[in-house]
Amino acid sequence: MDDTYRLGPLLLLGGRANRPLSAEIGRILKENPESATIRNFADDEIFVRIDYNARGRDVFIIQPTVTPADSIMELLLLIDAAKRASAARVTAVVPYFGYGRQDRKDQPRVAIGAKLVANLMVAAGADRMIGMDFHQHQIQAFFDIPVDHLYAAPVLTRYFLDKKLSDLVVVAPDVGSAKMARGFANRLHAALAIIDKRRAGPNRAEVANVVGDVEGRTCLLIDDMVDTGGTLANAVVALKDRGATKVFAGATHAILSGSAAEKLAAAPLEEFVVTDTIHVPEERRFDRLKILSVASLFATAIECVHENKSVSQLFEMAAEADSGG
Ligand code: R5P
Repeated sequence: MDDTYRLGPLLLLGGRANRPLSAEIGRILKENPESATIRNFADDEIFVRIDYNARGRDVFIIQPTVTPADSIMELLLLIDAAKRASAARVTAVVPYFGYGRQDRKDQPRVAIGAKLVANLMVAAGADRMIGMDFHQHQIQAFFDIPVDHLYAAPVLTRYFLDKKLSDLVVVAPDVGSAKMARGFANRLHAALAIIDKRRAGPNRAEVANVVGDVEGRTCLLIDDMVDTGGTLANAVVALKDRGATKVFAGATHAILSGSAAEKLAAAPLEEFVVTDTIHVPEERRFDRLKILSVASLFATAIECVHENKSVSQLFEMAAEADSGG
């Protein structure tokens, strides 16, 4: 029997961590994402209640797991509520997967936060997961449920292709971003450079060297996330010092914690382009910050999963961009 019929209709639930993104996904899918009551008790404990019949339905819960950890707890409660309301299937749609940087035991006695969060989602009852640009692709293997891992690359590359930047060098701000940057370089028909970044401590980035020719050229820094902005701000200065004429930057997840926005607003950047996987509040926006929406990628993925159709059309452009060898 076709699962489309066995599953019942789709039910979209948006958590509170990124209401504008879930509203946009809902608009595209013609579904109301505000299908749950979510509030806090006086001590900040979270209460959730699904407002519509969920029995037998194919439930999609949209919630990036940004800090504070309440966004994770809210997601877990929504998954639990859907399971207890007899949903046929629950898919966690997590545009930004927080704790993703804690993906291995690289020092004695540290936790592997990414695995723990994955375990919590599965333990709460998630049957599937849809994510985007995990810090490491291998995080998919932390989930013992199917994961559809999307890329923001199609949205970002389209934007930069339209700008028709000449003599372009895509720059990885650290060795970890080199594969992602190489994909963008292929797609944008650009050269590649890599920054050898050292960390003096957690969240303290320093540039050690730039590998590749950037003098007299336009540079595009590409990263999966920008947190304190230290990596990016240092990279822009290093590229300018080495004679880059213009520096653009693109990143999927705009965490922008602390004074990141001020730091980047003051940096000699032509434009900083991010996506809306994380909601950027008005007070953290600045003139040269451009926010592109990935809502249509998520809406298409949700539709494909619901209708048991292949989601590979969403990967093709990114895979092509990533296949530089
Ligand atoms: C590092 O591995 C990541 O790709 C980012 O470069 C990093 O997390 C950005 O952090 P920050 O903005 O605090 O330098």
